Amino acid sequence: MKTQSNRGKKLRRATPRVRQPARARTAAIDIDANRRLLNRYRFVAHEGMLILAGWLPKAETFELKCEMGRALWESAQHVNALFLRLREIQSPAFQKPSDPALVTLLAELLHAPDEFSLALALYRVVTPSLIRALESHETATFPNSDQPSVHVIKHALLDLRAQLERIEPLLVQAEQAGKITAAARAWEKYARRLLAAAGGISGLEERAPAPASAPACRVTFQAPREAGRDERFTNRAADFSAMPPEEAYQEHTVEEFERYSTEMLAAETVALVMFLVKGMPWEFQYDTARHIYDEVRHCLMGYEWMRGHAMDPFQSPQYLHVFKWRSQFPPVMQYCMLTMGNEVHAFPYRHRRVEAHQKSGDRLSEQFVRYDIADETQHVRFGNRWLPELIKLVGEKRPLKQYTADVIKVWEEEYRTGKLTLNVE
Ligand SMILES: [Fe+2]
Ligand SMILES: [Fe+2]
Repeated sequence: MKTQSNRGKKLRRATPRVRQPARARTAAIDIDANRRLLNRYRFVAHEGMLILAGWLPKAETFELKCEMGRALWESAQHVNALFLRLREIQSPAFQKPSDPALVTLLAELLHAPDEFSLALALYRVVTPSLIRALESHETATFPNSDQPSVHVIKHALLDLRAQLERIEPLLVQAEQAGKITAAARAWEKYARRLLAAAGGISGLEERAPAPASAPACRVTFQAPREAGRDERFTNRAADFSAMPPEEAYQEHTVEEFERYSTEMLAAETVALVMFLVKGMPWEFQYDTARHIYDEVRHCLMGYEWMRGHAMDPFQSPQYLHVFKWRSQFPPVMQYCMLTMGNEVHAFPYRHRRVEAHQKSGDRLSEQFVRYDIADETQHVRFGNRWLPELIKLVGEKRPLKQYTADVIKVWEEEYRTGKLTLNVE
């Protein structure tokens, strides 16, 4: 009996029933659905990034403008991570989603009536829905087979939740200050209806009928030619004044960091370039996103320094005519002026400043400038990498060397001498 029973057990062991692990059995997302979903998230992050680029110069509220620059760069990180994953499961990696309702939602967001309308639509409608889609994807996909997607999703979620935590207080503040207009509310509602028509960012929610028309508050977006500043900035159109000589260490350093606080102008120009230039490879947009965010950080570095020295950065001259002047030129020329003009030429001065700060034992200033040099080195590298492709893209006939020399001549004559010519548009 004993032997038979053992034999029976052995037999049962020899023909095991194939049992699937619980998660694999219930995974709701198969590989085709996965590809479709990742493609939707990539599209939302990518279009969102471009919308922020268009709006960054236009936005007036300083804190919101800075958050836009950061969110733009974080979106670029998400697009890049999704691109690296998508190219493993679809070709080409970048594909326009086949859902016209989602495409319409992202196309419409750009035409918000003002910056708070845009922020309400992005941060109270679209981003929360993207977060819900990612959260559900994270647990609904095959945990082992699709781990590379889970990795991307987990990291994007960290950023997106933190964005809402930073931006929501700005929206509440705007509400309390009466800056959220009826038009902004109408716009938020419109975005919500467009999202519902797309079945949410995932497209998996029950769909509502699309709104028959846009609300009357819709404003067809125009690329900004002027940089926005809120009412706290009172000194907008000052001309560049001569800086105290470098030998006057204290006075010069104050001016040096006050100038950093105005580097938003560079972020605004690069954002405009990103928004206007179509048809470049993804890596160009990726580098440009970093360039934009670096300049926002340089500006904030100036703010931090000034506040640490009991100065009010909102009193600094804003030199807004610099953006206006640059924006009258074609975007490739603006990019060339910035990278091959302003940025290339700043290095000898910056290195002298590092030395001066070291000599005077001013560690904070020294560190700030050294980080700035590290970023600016990349910006020049971006310029060298992309200008040859940019001039090809726009059909420029002059060789790169000649083109750059001609652009720098304009920059020398008009910017460096402070004579900024504003052509009548
Ligand atoms: Fe900078
Ligand atoms: Fe720069």
